[in-house]
Amino acid sequence: MTVLTIATTPYADQKPGTSGLRKKVPVFQQPNYAANFIQSIFDSLDGFAGTTLVIGGDGRFFNREVIQIAIRMGIANGFGRIIVGRGGILSTPAASCVIRAYGAFGGIVLSASHNPGGPTEDFGIKYNISNGGPAPEKITDAIFAISRTITRYLTIEAPDVDLDKDGETRIGGSVVQIIDPVADYAALMEQLFDFDAIRTLIGSGFRVAFDAMSAVTGPYATEILERRLGCPAGTVRNGTPLPDFGGHHPDPNLVHAKELYDLMMGADAPDFGAASDGDGDRNLIIGKGIFVTPSDSLAMLAANAHLAPGYKAGLKGIARSMPTSGAADRVAEALGVPLYETPTGWKFFGNLLDAGMATICGEESAGTGSDHVREKDGLWAVLLWLNILAARRESVMAIAQDHWSRFGRNYYARHDYEGVDSAAADAMMAELRGKLGTLPGTAFGTLTVATSDDFAYLDPVDGSTSNQQGIRILFEGGSRIVFRLSGTGTSGATIRVYIERYEPVGGDLAQATPDAIADLVGTVEAIAGIARHTGRTEPDVIT
Ligand code: G1P
Ligand code: ZN
Repeated sequence: MTVLTIATTPYADQKPGTSGLRKKVPVFQQPNYAANFIQSIFDSLDGFAGTTLVIGGDGRFFNREVIQIAIRMGIANGFGRIIVGRGGILSTPAASCVIRAYGAFGGIVLSASHNPGGPTEDFGIKYNISNGGPAPEKITDAIFAISRTITRYLTIEAPDVDLDKDGETRIGGSVVQIIDPVADYAALMEQLFDFDAIRTLIGSGFRVAFDAMSAVTGPYATEILERRLGCPAGTVRNGTPLPDFGGHHPDPNLVHAKELYDLMMGADAPDFGAASDGDGDRNLIIGKGIFVTPSDSLAMLAANAHLAPGYKAGLKGIARSMPTSGAADRVAEALGVPLYETPTGWKFFGNLLDAGMATICGEESAGTGSDHVREKDGLWAVLLWLNILAARRESVMAIAQDHWSRFGRNYYARHDYEGVDSAAADAMMAELRGKLGTLPGTAFGTLTVATSDDFAYLDPVDGSTSNQQGIRILFEGGSRIVFRLSGTGTSGATIRVYIERYEPVGGDLAQATPDAIADLVGTVEAIAGIARHTGRTEPDVIT
């Protein structure tokens, strides 16, 4: 086997965002674009000669091509074993599971998560480290720096590997191993959850609807829900991963999973509805007649996790991203465990999980997970809910109402302004930042600003700091509005406005969310001037 050194020239735009490098497919199809980035990943790492690299993706358009490039480059760069999910498939949480299960050095996950796929849509590459979690900023910064000066990449001359056949192939001094993408992950789920109890629940006529959104969780959900837990065939909808996700956004929210939502609100609704995103790390939870917000779901899962075998010893701590509502804080307080507030992005949870400081983590963006892997995990959340429902034998609605009556309710919504002109969005944020010092004491209608700041995080494990992670406007009485720019978009800027109001125990816990937060929504323009800066008067998506 001859290692080929191919001359290349840098691209200036390979800066990883909240979750890896995401660009439109035609950007990735430029000469050497993917190879440059993959080589930059390898060049940012030390000491991996002879070790194992995991490769897989969410099956979107261009997945197979980049997997072949990555296999060849992994061998040329000296990995001893390359483990690839059959068909090039590995959900993000399954990739994390496989990296840990096989003691791999790291993994390359090809995904643009919930973004659309197809020849003109999105693609992405992320690197995960040996704990199974996203590379920390120290590594992503190094990857970016290398990508700006790269002059060559290493590859080998070899035919494509047959991705559809399990087994091992020796190529030069390395082995390429194609594995079942579901088996290790499903085995881990069986360890964490009481499958017998869930099977009994299903057997009693409890009805589940799971929408895989034509994305990666199809094979995982079919194996686990239908084959192992006894849900009838057809429980998993849109269960075949398609390169373009059937033309849809594989984003499990009320806009893109509207069919499931309508089903769950209908007269003959199943007992439990759920969906997951493009790469399987997000979840949407809907009970019969009730949507559970991701922030509430985190709090309810944390409050009930002890009902599942994997968590019966209790939680070491709970972590949530800053914009996520404070519902989980009240559970942590009641459980007597610490609550950590981190910047947006799963990578900030890794240190807390590794250090044994937190067991359950979550984000308002439909991400929940635990220390079983180092990524958020859509099906894990579904299975923990099912385990809780099997143990409590109450409806999702009853569990939610009971939760609010114990802890109070955090009414919450996120308003997204998408595809906004980047300069206008930056100007809006800069202006907000500039007036942080003068906002406290200012009244907006009935609301008065108590404090305002730009969230900064000091990682309690490694001492690193992350600044400018979102502007927080805290009102007297505990309501809050947070402004930040998305770090995952591929065109223009997305402004995210997170709105939250806490209603204590004894208050009106049965309001419609838009009514409950109407006052706060009414202050957004006066505080931030979104319309003035961007011309947008309404959000594009409300979740
Ligand atoms: C978004 C979510 C964030 C999540 C990330 C990756 O990032 O807001 O919580 O971790 O996707 O799934 P953003 O676009 O806001 O930077
Ligand atoms: Zn995702």
